[in-house]
Parts: sequence; C-alpha cells; structure tokens
Amino acid sequence: MKNLINEILELKKERNAIILAHNYQRPEIQDIADFVGDSLGLSREAIDTKAEVIVFCGVDFMAETASILNPDKTVLIPDKSAICPMAMMLKVEDIKVAKEKYPNAETVLYINSTAETKTEADCICTSANAPETINAMNSDTILFGPDKNLAYFVEKRTKKRIIPVPEDGVCPTHHQLSKDDFLNSLKKYPNAELVVHPEVIPEVQEMATHIASTEGMLEYCKKSNSKEFIIGTENGIIHRLKREIPGKKFYAASEIAICPAMKMITLEKVRDSLKELKYEVRVPEEISMKAKEAIDCMLSHHSKNDPL
Ligand code: 13P
Ligand code: SF4
Repeated sequence: MKNLINEILELKKERNAIILAHNYQRPEIQDIADFVGDSLGLSREAIDTKAEVIVFCGVDFMAETASILNPDKTVLIPDKSAICPMAMMLKVEDIKVAKEKYPNAETVLYINSTAETKTEADCICTSANAPETINAMNSDTILFGPDKNLAYFVEKRTKKRIIPVPEDGVCPTHHQLSKDDFLNSLKKYPNAELVVHPEVIPEVQEMATHIASTEGMLEYCKKSNSKEFIIGTENGIIHRLKREIPGKKFYAASEIAICPAMKMITLEKVRDSLKELKYEVRVPEEISMKAKEAIDCMLSHHSKNDPL
C-alpha cells in the first residue's frame, strides 16, 4: 500500500492535480485526499483550486458539478460506474410535468441530481443549505427533488409548500435505516446522541438530536458536550469523525449503511486515473451553461467562510 500511495503522490505532482474526496469514501482514499468534505465544501474547493487536474473521489453528480464549475480544468472520476442511484430517480420529463401542474412554482433541485435535470432548476441546494436556499426563493410553492426525505426536512423548516418530484425519490442507503436501528443502538449506548443526515426517513429525523449535512454532523460532534454519538448516515464518515475527534466515540446506527457507488473508488483506480487521465467528466456545453446558472444561484448565497 505504501508504494501505491507514493506512486499516487508522485503522479499528483507530475500532473499538477488535486484529489477531492467525499466524507463517504474509503478510509485510505480520505487519507490521501487534499480535501475531504460534503457536497457543498467539495463544490467550493473545486472552484478555488489552482490545480489543472481534479481527481474527484465521489459519485457522478459531484464530479459533473466540479466540471461545470471548471470548464477549463480536467475533471476525472476514477470509476465511471460510481453513479448515485437517487440522482437517477429524477428525469427531466418528471419536472416538466410538475411545472405544468404548478405553473407558479419555482424548482429547487438537490445537488444529487443529473446535470441534465439541473437545467430545469431555478436553484440548486445541498443538505448543508437546503432550508436557507428555499427560503430565499420568491414563490410560495417549490418543486423539489429527488429526495422526498430531504423534502420533509425542508418543509418543516420553511414556510413554503414543498412538492416532491418525483413523489418517491429516496437514497437507498439512508432510506433503509429504521427507527428500530436507532432504538437498538440507544439500548446499547444510552448516553449517546443521535446525529443523522436529512436523507433518513421522517420517523428517524423526529427522534434525532441533530440533523445536518455530513460536514455539519462533524462540526456538531466537535462542539457538543456529549462523548458518544450514534451516527445515521453512510458509515464512511465514521473514519473522519474518529480521526478528527479522537476523544469521542462514534457508533454506526447500522452496519449496512454503505453506499456501493461511493465504495467503487479504490487507491488502484486513483493511481490509474492519474496515470492515464481517465475517466474525464465532460458535460455538453448547452447543458453545462444552463445547469451552472442554477448552481451559481446556490453559491451566491454563500461565501467560502460562511458556516455550514
Ligand atoms: P452531503 O452533501 O451531506 O455530504 O451528502 C451527500 C450525499 O450524497 C448524501 O448521501
Ligand atoms: Fe447517492 Fe445515497 Fe450514495 Fe449519497 S449515499 S451518493 S445519496 S446513493
């Protein structure tokens, strides 16, 4: 493994590349990355970098967003099959039909959506800024997709009427976490706080002490007075929590909270990606230009130093 890591570091220098990794990536990928974060942090980092090549260790919509924000840079994803199944649940046609039904509504899409669907959005949001972004919209009715659990989270925190598009879009990894998973974990660790991602089901959201994006979860656990936490999101984040908050204990709510797409990326694939400049992520210009307007809408609400 040491040789492989050295090879990656050498290639990274040669290529003037940066490695960005999502919080759900394998521990060894997080450890070699230049930046590890949530979707919002990764988008901001992709804009700021001076590197010529961005190796994106995450899933397709994240690499697409980095490419849209950096048309002059080479954005690589080490495995083309790292595709977020939730993003695939929303089709352009679904949004068009919803727009016909609600002609006065504006459309806000979760960043976990394809570049093509983003062209239909007035604004994009991530789990770190969804209520703020939606509150800043003009319409009282918002078409929101693809995650109906995040739609529930948003509706409770805004005065807007939220119409989920499609009706039943979910993240399979988060949606399977049940109330019983958390009750059983609490039996084992009665002093622990429940910290969850807004992609979990409403019943679990209701029992949580804190709900946030992956980066927000990390910030919360750092600041909280508690020493133990039951974590309701993809288990890759536990590595980062343990690494950055060594004095506290973190327990996965369920061992099955694994996102297969996120785990497609391996060190070998990162090495090959840098060596052969594969797989380049390119979004057709007409899609990219329209999608960028919606992404810029989200980013205009934030400066780099804003708290998440
Ligand atoms: P975050 O933006 O909170 O890291 O979430 C991304 C994601 O894919 C959640 O499943
Ligand atoms: Fe998509 Fe869920 Fe995986 Fe996040 S955890 S990338 S939403 S499938």
